[in-house]
Amino acid sequence: MDFIKRREIVTVLQRYIDRYGIKQYVEPFSGKFDIIQRIKCDYRLGNDVDAKLCRKAEKKTNGVLVGCADYRDLILPKNEKVLIFCDPPKIDRKTQEEFDAAEFWAWVLDRAAEGHYVFTLTETAPRGFYVVWNATTKKDKKLYIYGGTLW
Ligand SMILES: C[S@@+](CC[C@H](N)C(=O)[O-])C[C@H]1O[C@@H](n2cnc3c(N)ncnc32)[C@H](O)[C@@H]1O
Repeated sequence: MDFIKRREIVTVLQRYIDRYGIKQYVEPFSGKFDIIQRIKCDYRLGNDVDAKLCRKAEKKTNGVLVGCADYRDLILPKNEKVLIFCDPPKIDRKTQEEFDAAEFWAWVLDRAAEGHYVFTLTETAPRGFYVVWNATTKKDKKLYIYGGTLW
């Protein structure tokens, strides 16, 4: 992800965190942990299934809890609303198969139903998601928020 897009996405997420006094930020697909590093929030949990990326992240991130799990295994707090930012892959790097989008969206909807604030960076999203940030080209991913959430 280029510098400008990353900066714009961080700005949108940060504004939301500040505006609603969100205390916990969770990133299930942190990759290089470039976004979470720039987010300011009381608790930050970055996670990626790739152990190599997690080891690198532990060295470069300060104050970020680094998880190395499948996103489906993340346990989120029941008594607090968390901001969840998802930047999922299109292809599973291990199997080279398409990432199971249906399962991902079901997981996202479950988290939204629990009351968490869910943002996704994806090319499209199912009904009920609204674009809050749009990249310049049509092919690029957009930032969506699950509807009903204030922004
Ligand atoms: C599009 S990249 C995220 C890029 C990240 N936003 C960045 O700026 O570096 C998607 C990431 O999801 C991770 N991933 C793939 N399947 C996963 C799973 N089941 N659970 C957690 N992470 C997964 C990949 O290892 C990859 O780093």
